Amino acid sequence: MKGVVAIILAAGKGKRMKSKLPKVLHEIWGKPMLSYVLETIKALRVEREIVVVGFGAERIKEGFGGNLEYVEQKELLGTGHALQKTYKLLKDYAGDIMIVCGDTPLLKVNTLRSLVKYHREKRAEATILTAKLDKPTGYGRIIRDSRGKIVKIVEEADVSPKEMKVKEVNTGTYCFKGRLLFAALKELKPENVQKEYYLTDVVDLLVKRDLLVEGLIVSSSDEAKGINTRKELSQVAKVLREEILDKLMLKGVTIIDPETTFVDAEVVIGRDTIIYPFTILEGKTKIGQNCSLGPGTYLNKVEVGNKVTIQNSVIRESKVRDGARVGPFSQIRPNSFIGKEVKIGNFAEIKKSRILDKSQVGHFSYIGDTTIGKGVNIGAGTITCNFDGERKYQTKISDYVFVGSDTILVAPVSLGKGAYTAAGSTITKNVPPYALGVGRERQKNILGWAKKKVRSKKGDKVRG
Ligand code: UD1
Ligand code: CA
Repeated sequence: MKGVVAIILAAGKGKRMKSKLPKVLHEIWGKPMLSYVLETIKALRVEREIVVVGFGAERIKEGFGGNLEYVEQKELLGTGHALQKTYKLLKDYAGDIMIVCGDTPLLKVNTLRSLVKYHREKRAEATILTAKLDKPTGYGRIIRDSRGKIVKIVEEADVSPKEMKVKEVNTGTYCFKGRLLFAALKELKPENVQKEYYLTDVVDLLVKRDLLVEGLIVSSSDEAKGINTRKELSQVAKVLREEILDKLMLKGVTIIDPETTFVDAEVVIGRDTIIYPFTILEGKTKIGQNCSLGPGTYLNKVEVGNKVTIQNSVIRESKVRDGARVGPFSQIRPNSFIGKEVKIGNFAEIKKSRILDKSQVGHFSYIGDTTIGKGVNIGAGTITCNFDGERKYQTKISDYVFVGSDTILVAPVSLGKGAYTAAGSTITKNVPPYALGVGRERQKNILGWAKKKVRSKKGDKVRG
């Protein structure tokens, strides 16, 4: 929007969060709450975006950098004091100034657009975005006179019993005409219970000068939700979760039970993928089309191709290509690559390994620090011994190898193309291409042994 500068207040410590982390950096579905606000402002295309930072300023600047301008509020003396810090940047600015708090991530672009539009239509000196809440506790109350004109905002800590009942609240979002705002800010006094310079007191000052202060009531009161406590964090997260899942469903993803499905904001999922209950998808996870995920699946930063099935499994920071099947009950640890049509599990653990197309690690295996070529069969119960107590070693299994069940591969070791290992082998030496590696005692049968054993026990019958 032309003629608008946005100021985002993000300097507060967030005392009520009881945390060392600055409040606005607390995450919701994989992103700090501040990024929701910044993305909304970005979509508004204002002329400048100025972020007031204070507590944890360096961390915030590091995290967001970019095209934003930062102003530092060293002492945290309240929202009015925070705004005073932008005076130098904006003293010659004649357009509209929009102010948004960094802790209200549910605000929508269209709401902010309507606020500016309304502010301009009414030719108001200031316009407050307000909300009507059944439970207004915690918010500043909007006090109107008998004709319905806004006269002031009273903070929760300072309300009288009568004002306490007012259901219209301040969302902390405003639009001001520049110049008089800064003049009024200079007059603020910290004469309130919290001994802070309240931005909200500007309203009273403007009204006393007969300047017009308007209020626009937000249509969806959820948007007003500010986060001051961990409880509010979870309430806002719930709303955002629903938004994320709704968007996915609209784009063609089936979510069997949204109540038990948790998907981070940056996850991308292709059409006709089905998500079964108790599934959590985190970070920049990307899922292709026609996949089946869950039940009971956890993926963190995983890239998944098309037609992949993952059931009751955990995968982190790995890639899984088209047509692969994982689970039930497998774990794939970071930096693994699962090729096309590969099968992993039941009950397999894959650690930092590459497994190429059409290979199978079907049952009860540990594969660590290993490369497995194409078309390899890993028999049930195969284990790579990649650790000698001090160092980790590599195992290399070439294309079309057949590893017999219960093989122990003592790394470093490699199996040449097309080689076999005999079931139950402990392989400590490389197996050449097309050879059979046998690493176990040959079986011998001791005839009549059982009969003798049983006879020696008095009274027992000989079996069979
Ligand atoms: C504020 C409003 C209240 C409104 C509510 C909406 C004031 C005095 N009160 O209260 O009317 O209903 O928001 O959510 O403005 N901040 C700074 N520097 C400071 C203090 C705060 O930058 O010195 C920032 C915080 O980081 C936060 C925002 O301003 O993003 C709001 O501060 P907070 O302390 O959460 O204000 P509330 O008590 O919620
Ligand atoms: Ca707040």
